Amino acid sequence: MTSMSESAADGMYANHDHDNDAIAALIASDPNRPLSVLKCVDCGRTYELNDPIYTCPNCNGLLDIDHDLDRLRPYVSRALFDSRLNALDMPYNSGVWRFKELVFPGAPNDKVVTRGEGNTTLYRAPKGLAAWIGANQLALKHEGENPTGSFKDRGMTGGVTHAVLAGATSVVCASTGNTSASMASFAALAGLQALVFFPYGSVAAGKLAQSIAYGALSVQVRGDFDACLDLVRQSCRQFGIYLLNSVNPFRLEGQKTIVFELLQQRRWKVPDWIVLPGGNLGNTSAFGKGLHELYALGLIDRLPRIAVIQAEGASPFYASYKEDFRERKTMKADTLATAIKIGNPASYYKAKRTLEWTNGVVESVTDQEILDAKAQIDRCGIGCEPASAASVAGVKKLLAAGTIHPDDDVVTILTGHVLKDPEIVMKYHSDTLEGFTGTYANRLLTIEPTLEAVRALLSAERVTPA
Ligand code: F0G
Repeated sequence: MTSMSESAADGMYANHDHDNDAIAALIASDPNRPLSVLKCVDCGRTYELNDPIYTCPNCNGLLDIDHDLDRLRPYVSRALFDSRLNALDMPYNSGVWRFKELVFPGAPNDKVVTRGEGNTTLYRAPKGLAAWIGANQLALKHEGENPTGSFKDRGMTGGVTHAVLAGATSVVCASTGNTSASMASFAALAGLQALVFFPYGSVAAGKLAQSIAYGALSVQVRGDFDACLDLVRQSCRQFGIYLLNSVNPFRLEGQKTIVFELLQQRRWKVPDWIVLPGGNLGNTSAFGKGLHELYALGLIDRLPRIAVIQAEGASPFYASYKEDFRERKTMKADTLATAIKIGNPASYYKAKRTLEWTNGVVESVTDQEILDAKAQIDRCGIGCEPASAASVAGVKKLLAAGTIHPDDDVVTILTGHVLKDPEIVMKYHSDTLEGFTGTYANRLLTIEPTLEAVRALLSAERVTPA
């Protein structure tokens, strides 16, 4: 006889393979009509998923993974995604593959390369932080809690899985540090060779260390990120290496799940705003596509507004936005938030589409504003890397401008972990960052090993004994 608790346990351990079988049967039922195709966002031409292309061969436009939502509709529901919240088995225990039908429906479960990514915390902003920003309803989704410390893992599980299915043996990316850390990890896990191009001298220590430790061929290129990305594109064409920058649409399918998961954590209640930092604009593009799909499927009843925040010294998208996107602007990028030090964002057109779909806005913030916002986020115990803090600095600025209302329901995305860039933390808090002020510095102190020294310290720091 089966006891109540045993049958409950059966439910918990269910690996949901039948869901995969249902989609496999759907695909097999009409082999001439694929469930997902590559589709050019400009000219609309379609290509097979396994065609080794990253831009449209016809017009050079960016490619989307276009899912046949009408055929998928009967197979997806909030209830299905919610039922997997207690899944123990791979891949459904991942915060990406929990949404598999909308990410990569055809991927065989046993071929998925996953580290159980996603499942990151949605924090309600602690009082001090909320007050500093001036927002009454602010939540922070911390994507730095992913396995390699940034949101990139969500895209990489999709990208590397496709690389494996496409028979690739080596993968390449240009990176300001997080994509490379993530790619190096997932490639190692899948047994692929990884090649990384870094902009010379502009990558934070934690990120460089990860790429080297995970065994990637790690190369500093004497040029900026935009030059590295150019080199990657040429290398892929010339040497047939699989490209894993975010122009690879499988990356964006994974990154969409940041919004899927945050909506699920809010019991599918749509916020007024989702605010995120923008660099190469892959994430902005992914958010728009994901939201558009959820809305088309009737899984959400309205769209939130997206606010993209750029560092002032690396704000070409902001410059285009300011002029109603009459022209695609580029610039020589310069910011302490090295993750987003990008002057020619590759996903410009898809990001513009996201703004159109969501009535979105773009803002820019100074490096000093980023540093101070980071100090506040760090100080409340949550912590993030500089680029992530741009989003919070952006919320503060948009509130001050009246674009965001203090009672608006806002979710901001923290994209990377505090340990990614330890050097900037030490410099800010010792107030030795040239040209900037350690406004909220928490100095590292040194004392002799005597009780006298501790007494002097406690009184100087006004520490009250218990
Ligand atoms: N935040 C962090 C921590 C990042 O690493 C990046 C991008 C972004 C925000 C911007 O995201 O490019 O999708 O607009 N990092 C890439 C990299 C460029 O190589 O790691 P985006």
